[in-house]
Amino acid sequence: MHIAVVGSGYVGLVAAACLADLGHQVICVDNDENRIACLLRGEVPMHEKFLPELIERNRGPRLQFSTDLAQAARRSSAIFIAVGTPPAEDGEADLSFVESVSCDLARAGGGSYKVIVEKSTVPVYTSDWVRRVMLLNGAAPDYFDVASNPEFLREGTAVTDFLYPDRIVIGADSSRAAAALREIYRPMLDGSYYRRENKVPEPDGVRLPPPLIVTSAKSAELIKHASNAFLAMKISFINAVANICDGVGADIEEVCEGVGADSRIGQRFLNAGIGYGGSCFPKDLLAFRAVARNCGYDFRLLDEVVRINEEQRQRFIRKVRRALWTLKGKRLAVLGLAFKGGTDDIRESPAIALVRALLRENCAITAYDPAAMGRAREVLPAGVEYADSAHAAAEDADALLILTDWEEFAALDLERLRARMKYPIIIDGRNLYDPALMESRGFTYISVGRPEVYGIRPAAATAPQRRVLRPAVAGGELPKAS
Ligand code: UGA
Repeated sequence: MHIAVVGSGYVGLVAAACLADLGHQVICVDNDENRIACLLRGEVPMHEKFLPELIERNRGPRLQFSTDLAQAARRSSAIFIAVGTPPAEDGEADLSFVESVSCDLARAGGGSYKVIVEKSTVPVYTSDWVRRVMLLNGAAPDYFDVASNPEFLREGTAVTDFLYPDRIVIGADSSRAAAALREIYRPMLDGSYYRRENKVPEPDGVRLPPPLIVTSAKSAELIKHASNAFLAMKISFINAVANICDGVGADIEEVCEGVGADSRIGQRFLNAGIGYGGSCFPKDLLAFRAVARNCGYDFRLLDEVVRINEEQRQRFIRKVRRALWTLKGKRLAVLGLAFKGGTDDIRESPAIALVRALLRENCAITAYDPAAMGRAREVLPAGVEYADSAHAAAEDADALLILTDWEEFAALDLERLRARMKYPIIIDGRNLYDPALMESRGFTYISVGRPEVYGIRPAAATAPQRRVLRPAVAGGELPKAS
């Protein structure tokens, strides 16, 4: 099929590349000329596994980039809208980009039937509004339908998530719109894509072919918001339980193993830490809250999910303070700036928020992130230093903080790390290490919802010149005065 994808952000660009890989003729359109120029030069503006390869192998007639929406729309029979829906002041999603694309699509005309597909995360009733705006701008009612086809990809694993989804949701109020979307996903639904030799590698444990769920457009819009809100709630819930573990000396990993073994609950998205971030959960929770309010329901559970999430960062700062006593002038190595591992995205990143908070406490920060340092430099104050490796960041540090769950941070050379740090203190906001291992390696190791360990050998025995550290918490072994 001829498809236009409007928007070349994470969702739009990944969708365009994957739809091209399924065999469609795709034009990815954006009104950001620089972005399109960069894509035309062969640059990929984001760090996403398999995306450069997919773009490269489909580039040409199957995958084009353009700033000309009208032309792309005229030659396409399906148009995916994947533009931004940022939060407005009151938390509601700002749908002005969706509205303006709808006007442009109506004015572009085209003379043949087209299905307009909402791919951006939008509140319920958006499909009605898109339809209304298109009619007001001269679109012929028989020549288009508006459908909702929410996307559930995660950054970092976006390509794999798109091609191997848990489900495909098609929200269509007409049979021809549903049929067009079925046709688009046919290579996945009939399994032919998965039999191809050059398919993107299959992740473990996927169900193939993916189940198809066909609903009304409104239900599909709600499925997206409800899914993100539920996942965020799962994270806040487990963070709250982790805080109780901290209080009573239990271990959140053990608790999760027991809780997640219930197949009605499941193990995934039960990782306690410094809270969720990113461009989706924080924004979508507020938008869903506003949707509920607008239809007369006071969804206060969502407020609590947000509150727990914010508090989780404060609790982490308190852990740093407990480990170091005072913060002013302390040199901290920060591993991770992205909102999660596998991406260079720093939007609403808890790591960035924590770095800002620590700078306000007059800490000196040396940060390292495998992909997000370029973006972080643009938003963080000039005083932050950047290292070119985790070990370099740790040089002479009073403590090392793990703020993003990059795989490489879970495989550090602990001996080397310890030798470079001023004090062997790690405060891990992502629970990447086994506390018993860290203790045996001589680290003070403080994580989230798990026992704190104090493997520090007396400072006087190893490094007489070192500064005195004050007690962290009762029960820990402390460095002795030199
Ligand atoms: C999220 C959803 O997972 C996707 O299904 C959805 O398509 C996407 O939003 C979207 O609406 O576009 P994403 O924001 O890319 O995807 O990342 P997640 O993997 O969901 O992580 C979100 C945040 O939660 C990260 O900060 C992550 O570190 C945190 N998290 C995740 C936890 O703290 N604990 C967990 O167990 C899982």
